[in-house]
Amino acid sequence: MKNELIVATTNPHKLREIAQISKLPVTGRTSQVRENGKTFEANAIKKVKSLKLKPGQVGLADDSGLMVNCLNGAPGVRSARFANPPTAENLCRKLLRKMANCPQRGAKFICVIALAYPDGKIRTVKGTCYGRILREMRGKNGFGYDQLFRPCGYQQTFAEMPSKMKNWLSHRGRALKKLLAYF
Ligand code: IMP
Repeated sequence: MKNELIVATTNPHKLREIAQISKLPVTGRTSQVRENGKTFEANAIKKVKSLKLKPGQVGLADDSGLMVNCLNGAPGVRSARFANPPTAENLCRKLLRKMANCPQRGAKFICVIALAYPDGKIRTVKGTCYGRILREMRGKNGFGYDQLFRPCGYQQTFAEMPSKMKNWLSHRGRALKKLLAYF
């Protein structure tokens, strides 16, 4: 595949993960859109449509977030803005506070990726990773809620895993693998 992937993100962690998983040349681009859609799909499509693509370039945008069962799916599409300022530390601490009285710790990460071709065609794929929210932060890798999320079947949080392992089983990894089948 000769195309260059233009990714609508300024998040260096996401960009690195997308490059590692796709093994394609990727370029990050700022997207100025307001992520005010009600669904991950709506936000991903809005972001990817904002990219100005040249011939040979394919646009990619992901919208992702954490949905916690006992919080009725929150923080969901608001995951990036759940705490202010939205540092990993603040996001995790606020989540721990909100879940202080939750005995049931089930959660899932969702990632929707929208891919845009220069002819305007858009395709979306979704990746889900189920897991649990721990009662304390563990690990130093990753970003966002990684220190609290332990995927089903594993003893380590995303933040304790080597990046290859997280990429293999994460919501983003799963969505990207589906997408690569289209190239
Ligand atoms: P957005 O997709 O840029 O709207 O950001 C989604 C937010 O969800 C991020 O800022 C993180 O806080 C959180 N998030 C998404 N994916 C991950 C992940 O792989 N690990 C940890 N947090 C994530």
